[in-house]
Formats: sequence, C-alpha cells, structure tokens
Amino acid sequence: MTLLKIATVGHPVLRRPAQPVPEADIGKPALESLIEAMVETMRDASGAGLAAPQVYVPLRVCVIELAENPRYPGAGPIPLMILINPRLSPLGFAADGTLPWGSGISMYEGCLSVPNLRGRVRRPRRVAVEARDRLGAPIELLAEGVFASVIQHEVDHLDATLFVDRADPKTLTTLTEYERHVSRDERIVDEGALPE
Ligand code: NI
Repeated sequence: MTLLKIATVGHPVLRRPAQPVPEADIGKPALESLIEAMVETMRDASGAGLAAPQVYVPLRVCVIELAENPRYPGAGPIPLMILINPRLSPLGFAADGTLPWGSGISMYEGCLSVPNLRGRVRRPRRVAVEARDRLGAPIELLAEGVFASVIQHEVDHLDATLFVDRADPKTLTTLTEYERHVSRDERIVDEGALPE
C-alpha cells in the first residue's frame, strides 16, 4: 500500500492549474500507480475525493468515492470513480448568471488539504460530466445532489480553487464547533430534493 503525502493550504501546488493528462499516458503503468496510490490515500484519510494536485502531482486526475463515510454521514454512497481530464457543465443557472432557488445544493464542505475546517458552499445541484476513465474510455454522466457537489469540489482543485474560496466566510467552522453547532438539517440542503 502506498500512502501519499497530502499538500495543505498554503502550498503553491494547490494554487496552480493542473495540466491535462496526455492521451498516450492514459492506461499506462505510471498513471495507474498514481491512481492506485490516490485511491488508497483517499480511503486512509476518510476523504470523499482526492485530486492529483493534493498529492503534489499537477495533472488533471481525481478520484471520488463516498461509502458510508464518517466525515459525511447520510450523504449516500458514491461508487469509486476515476476522472481523467474531466470537463464540467454546471446546470440550472439563469440567464443573468445567478443560480435560482431549487437549482442549488448547499453543503458544509471539508477538504483533506484544509485540515479541521468546514464551511458552507452553495453550488449547482446538477452538473454534466465528461471525462476519461482509467482505461481511456469516455465517461458521460449527469451528476445530481451530493454527487454533483463532490465532483465540483474535486474538479475545482484541478483549476487551483479551494472550497474556502467559495464558502460563505461567516459559516467557516472548526470540526469541533461544526459537530456542536451545525444541525443535521443544515449540513446538506439539496434544494431540488425539498418540497416546493
Ligand atoms: Ni478538497
């Protein structure tokens, strides 16, 4: 098992846009080793996802998995997914660029690169995803709800963006205060899953 060191906020690697994986490298042993190590590192740290810049590798690769995660109780399982060179099209924006009520999901997000902090981020609750899988096969899917939030958080890492850049600053909280003061109902608010 290979556990990789995780870069924490302040390290420049987290603030540099990642480079696309060259077509010829997909499926090759070097990339496979990186992906395996990323999956093991994510699982060991109880993360819901991990992007390559978080392990000091400036490539457009991320891994996502949410299986009864103690950090995100009630967020529902997401099977292991490897996204190479992902492209996202967030859905639900109005013509004026705002995200109307019903099209968003607000979640208290955390990040393995921002230890001991949570903060509320509102994102589109539906996003079209295009990527390659680890063998190079095309992935095309529509992600909704928590899955859409997690994917956007991970792809943000590839674009040098952290959740703290998008969080409502007044909601930032240490994990201890989060457990004490943020009720279960506030932790995930999926507007599309609520009654009108
Ligand atoms: Ni993160």
